[in-house]
Amino acid sequence: MLHVPLICLLLFSKTAFGSVSMSEFFSFGQNENDTMLHPNDDGSSPVQNISVVFEFFSEHRKQLFVNTNGLISFFKAVSTYTSEEFPKIGKRIVLAPFWADIDTRGCGSTCGIWYRESTELVDLSKASSEIRYYFPAMNHFNAKWTYIATWYNVPFFGASPLGMNKRNTFQAVLITDSKSAFVIYNYNKIEWTTGTASNGNADIGLGGIPAQVGFNMGDEIHFYSVEGSRKSEIINLPNLSNVKYPGKFVFRVDLPDIESAPTPDADQCFLKAADILLVVDLSLSIDINDLKNLISDVISKLPINAMECQIAMKSFSTSARTEFRFKDHKTKTEILAHIAKMNTAKGVSNLKDALSSTTQMFSYNDGSRLYANRFVIIFTDGLMVASRELKTQADHLLSFSNMIVATVGIGSSVKHDHLELISSDFNSILRPSANSFWKYLQSALAVPGCLACDEDFGGEIRILLENSGYITREVFKEGRQFIYTLIEELTSFNLTNVNSSVDIFSDEVTEAIPLQNISGMDYKLGGLSLVEHSENNVNKSLLSQHIKDIGIISSSNSFIIFISNGGFLDSQLIEKLKHSVNETSIILSVGLGEDTNWDNVEDLATYGYCVFSSDDAHLLARYLKKEMKTTTCT
Ligand SMILES: *[C@@H]1O[C@H](CO)[C@@H](O)[C@H](O)[C@H]1NC(C)=O
Ligand SMILES: *[C@@H]1O[C@H](CO)[C@@H](O)[C@H](O)[C@H]1NC(C)=O
Ligand SMILES: *[C@@H]1O[C@H](CO)[C@@H](O)[C@H](O)[C@H]1NC(C)=O
Ligand SMILES: *[C@@H]1O[C@H](CO)[C@@H](O)[C@H](O)[C@H]1NC(C)=O
Ligand SMILES: *[C@@H]1O[C@H](CO)[C@@H](O)[C@H](O)[C@H]1NC(C)=O
Ligand SMILES: *[C@@H]1O[C@H](CO)[C@@H](O)[C@H](O)[C@H]1NC(C)=O
Ligand SMILES: *[C@@H]1O[C@H](CO)[C@@H](O)[C@H](O)[C@H]1NC(C)=O
Ligand SMILES: *[C@@H]1O[C@H](CO)[C@@H](O)[C@H](O)[C@H]1NC(C)=O
Repeated sequence: MLHVPLICLLLFSKTAFGSVSMSEFFSFGQNENDTMLHPNDDGSSPVQNISVVFEFFSEHRKQLFVNTNGLISFFKAVSTYTSEEFPKIGKRIVLAPFWADIDTRGCGSTCGIWYRESTELVDLSKASSEIRYYFPAMNHFNAKWTYIATWYNVPFFGASPLGMNKRNTFQAVLITDSKSAFVIYNYNKIEWTTGTASNGNADIGLGGIPAQVGFNMGDEIHFYSVEGSRKSEIINLPNLSNVKYPGKFVFRVDLPDIESAPTPDADQCFLKAADILLVVDLSLSIDINDLKNLISDVISKLPINAMECQIAMKSFSTSARTEFRFKDHKTKTEILAHIAKMNTAKGVSNLKDALSSTTQMFSYNDGSRLYANRFVIIFTDGLMVASRELKTQADHLLSFSNMIVATVGIGSSVKHDHLELISSDFNSILRPSANSFWKYLQSALAVPGCLACDEDFGGEIRILLENSGYITREVFKEGRQFIYTLIEELTSFNLTNVNSSVDIFSDEVTEAIPLQNISGMDYKLGGLSLVEHSENNVNKSLLSQHIKDIGIISSSNSFIIFISNGGFLDSQLIEKLKHSVNETSIILSVGLGEDTNWDNVEDLATYGYCVFSSDDAHLLARYLKKEMKTTTCT
């Protein structure tokens, strides 16, 4: 009958160093029809007549120049290669994302300086999101115009062959809605600070007079200099920020003084933008109240706003329908109200059809943000669908760019192999827990350096094997074999700080392997092989008492694995056993034999997601490994 394997989520640790990744830059290059500055030293673009008035230090600017040496100037082109300290007089009206001696003559197609004016929707939308996010007071800001200049992989003047390996990649983005004006500096990579004509070292591009970063009005009064400018520390730009996003600086520039984005609260940590489509199974096999509670809990935990998460939702049973799209820009409160009104739909689930038009939800016209990370999260039991057809839809989804597909196993029994088929990876198969879901997203979307995540294993696995007259000698052996396979697999994972025990129950409870570090467990399996099959009844009160005794646990990851054919269970005993277990423990239930009472086996498990068949020992081991991993993000 059903198999139910399961799975959970968890994450990868992010190390704590920064920089804005290339995928988070505003797009640039030939494919964007950017203009490339021809290879040069100390050169500049021709004058750029821009299609709006850009306010800079309260003055109207209609022209600009993109200069090779890491400057955008308004009054005239600038060829000066050694950076000057701000404030600087002499009509130096400049943005300086990285004013230093850049030379693109020797780097061919490995480098480039690109620029364009853009009023493309994708750029305006990204610009609006970022400004709304970093300047909460501007939460209705609608960008009308952007100018994007990108210095990609640029080397320094005078570099030796060795020095040519040192490259810098950064971007300046000018943004206006024709009332206020903003500038974003993005730093992906800064490996040198100084050309040789500014007394830098030819092999490493350091020393001498390093780069100046900031803004200068040219009146010797108004300016903004990023701390570390013209000092060796300026090489740390990818780790620095004025908005707690390593490698990113955001400024309002139209006022008489440059205004830095307000410093976020100490406990605020940014997530990368995510467009999350929830695909929800409302068919008859799902408990609608459990489902609504789960999704509401999930929604409550997510940061839903223009910069972080945006939510759209589809539901399905026999056919699929759109509940709301990204372009509806539903707030958290509106989404929760929508969920509260959802009902079970008639019919059985048609997961294949639900997935067939899913990528359309990620079109820009439906409000998705082209630069955002895309998630499809499917809440389903995975029943009632043919694997082959599902696979076709899954492949289509997974091949969509920048897309992660995760599944959450809900319902009284879950078809884990179907969930595995459509999920991006094993870690993306989630158990129905809002907390697990949150941790999964948090680790997938954490801004590097903002959250530090530590990973550790730890926990307790208590295995209980039925040995009674309800099962035959062969079925008992099948249960024993399940344990051998499970333990061998778990010990091969070298988990630290995971303890495990094996108990066998009938009219008495035998401690076959006492609780101990799992790394030595496979040596103890011999003890298990000595246990004879028993024809006795299960002593139910003894079993409950035993569960209570072992249930006093010290670890937060605690699993109780019941291996039985379910025949000796009844609803009263199931309730009693569940109550004997610490509420923080998860009960996994493994059904044994041909004539398994699956209703009882499922009822005993914490949720349908935690029900397995006796073929699932390897899967259960992988599951436990994932669950035993504790990732703490601070
Ligand atoms: C670039 O220009 C070509 C030809 O004018 C056009 O077909 C294409 O859509 C443009 N691409 C972008 C990203 O604007
Ligand atoms: C830019 O504008 C100026 C004056 O406003 C004009 O003389 C010049 O020809 C324009 N340049 C280009 C490339 O359009
Ligand atoms: C950023 O910080 C990390 C960790 O402190 C360090 O390893 C790395 O070298 C730094 N990078 C730069 C460019 O300073
Ligand atoms: C495992 O057992 C050892 C020894 O009894 C104990 O010190 C440790 O805390 C236990 N670990 C867990 C995660 O329960
Ligand atoms: C576990 O440790 C053993 C011995 O140190 C090693 O041979 C094996 O490769 C390790 N396995 C894993 C999965 O790390
Ligand atoms: C369990 O064994 C592993 C490997 O031998 C060891 O690293 C770990 O510290 C042990 N844990 C405990 C709680 O004894
Ligand atoms: C079950 O075990 C308890 C405790 O050992 C004992 O008092 C009771 O008599 C047993 N019941 C049966 C039916 O054997
Ligand atoms: C359940 O376990 C937790 C530790 O994981 C412990 O703090 C709590 O007191 C336990 N509750 C009961 C009822 O034993």
